[in-house]
Amino acid sequence: MTGAGGGGVRVRPATADDEEAIAAIWVPGWREAHEGRVPDELLEHRSAEDLRRRVASMIEAATVAEIGRTVAGFVVVRDDCVDQMYVGGDHRGTGAAGELLSHAEAGIGERHDRAWLAVVAGNDRARRFYERHGWRDEGPFDHLTWTTDGRTIPVPCRRYEKAVRAS
Ligand SMILES: CC(C)(COP(=O)(O)OP(=O)(O)OC[C@H]1O[C@@H](n2cnc3c(N)ncnc32)[C@H](O)[C@@H]1OP(=O)(O)O)[C@@H](O)C(=O)NCCC(=O)NCCS
Repeated sequence: MTGAGGGGVRVRPATADDEEAIAAIWVPGWREAHEGRVPDELLEHRSAEDLRRRVASMIEAATVAEIGRTVAGFVVVRDDCVDQMYVGGDHRGTGAAGELLSHAEAGIGERHDRAWLAVVAGNDRARRFYERHGWRDEGPFDHLTWTTDGRTIPVPCRRYEKAVRAS
């Protein structure tokens, strides 16, 4: 699905040509969302190099928002989960995030009744954003996140859900 939303935001599937732009948003955005809010050990497994390496494997499941010719943000959906949701610092408050989230919800709603996502407990801005878009906090859980050496680290998160089934 592709479309132009409010404020000149255009949402389209990501391609390999977007890898650099996605990494440029994800690397600083990941730090901003997680630093000081997750176990320090996890930071060792999220170097800029680690994140950059993972971008290629996300492209197929990624959608980008463009403003003009600039990639403003991206969302990654896996099954019924909004797995990654990032907007670049210069494009916060532009509506790009809302367009991406709506797109993700619509895609999930074609196949599932409910969508879910994990947000780090201390990420207040993201939590406010999801709540403004009708997501409900379903409580705390330990999200098992990957490490670069094949293990997982439990990260205290909140589980958010929203009914999304297309009617
Ligand atoms: C979470 C995220 C995607 C939400 O996108 P967003 O653009 O910030 O959200 P909105 O479009 O609803 O913008 C509203 C926010 O922008 C602020 N805002 C409004 N106009 C603005 C502007 N011109 N410039 C900057 N911020 C502005 C509002 O004050 C509001 O912030 P607040 O909730 O702290 O008061 C984005 O903040 C982000 O990428 N954060 C870092 C990564 C992250 O945490 N991802 C989620 C992981 S679960």
